[in-house]
Amino acid sequence: MLQLKDIRWSTETGEKILNGVDLTVPDGKLTVITGPNGGGKTSLAKVIAGLYKPESGQIIADGKDITDWSITERSKNGLAYAFQQPVRFKGLTVRDLLSISAGRELSSAEVCHLLATVGLCGRDYIDREADASLSGGESKRIEIATVLARKDAKILVFDEPEAGIDLWSFASLIEAFENIKKDTDRSLLIISHQERIMNIADYIAVVADGKVSKMGTREEIFPSLMDKTAATRCSLRTSEGGAL
Ligand SMILES: Nc1ncnc2c1ncn2[C@@H]1O[C@H](COP(=O)(O)OP(=O)(O)O)[C@@H](O)[C@H]1O
Ligand SMILES: [Mg+2]
Repeated sequence: MLQLKDIRWSTETGEKILNGVDLTVPDGKLTVITGPNGGGKTSLAKVIAGLYKPESGQIIADGKDITDWSITERSKNGLAYAFQQPVRFKGLTVRDLLSISAGRELSSAEVCHLLATVGLCGRDYIDREADASLSGGESKRIEIATVLARKDAKILVFDEPEAGIDLWSFASLIEAFENIKKDTDRSLLIISHQERIMNIADYIAVVADGKVSKMGTREEIFPSLMDKTAATRCSLRTSEGGAL
């Protein structure tokens, strides 16, 4: 279980981005964070991963206060994070990268299975360098696969995994998330705007203006999000002079 208590974070220039985030991510459940662009979702994920140091507040993972832990310590203790914009690695093949994540040499079949989960054909990618020659969508999928490879991970954080995943590959990714949920000692936190991911969420939190503005079960929160989307669509259509 992951708990965030009154997390505050500002940029180097003093702009307040996170203004007291309180959030609990229970084990064996999928919690989705959604909300407007620029609301602070990625900053929050980076605070969890240890890339941004909060000015105040606490991060508790499985009962331990990890607020002052380094990125490496958090990772060693079971925190896995998939970036919104993945990093590329020159000189490492996709197989190397997935093996490093798994903590052991993976067989070709295992690498292919992981790649298939994110909609990539293993044969084409297994020995490719995970460098800048990959497209945005390819590197995004490989990044997701590195987190899926981490069987030791107890808290898994994905930042907009839908970006770069086509409609046809989506079903296997959804299945992978549902399988993670079956492990009752793992907590899954996904930042997403995707209806299909929200459909399998147990809890939804809306982050806006650096705060959790709404939090509840999917049944409680999802309908109000859909109303908002419909309202936005209508106003867009009227302002464009479309039929209403
Ligand atoms: N390292 C940073 N330096 C300066 N501004 C940042 C930094 N990280 C995030 N921000 C700003 O914080 C705000 C929230 O960004 P972000 O957390 O990426 O939002 P979201 O993921 O919800 O779209 C944005 O205005 C963004 O420009
Ligand atoms: Mg973001």
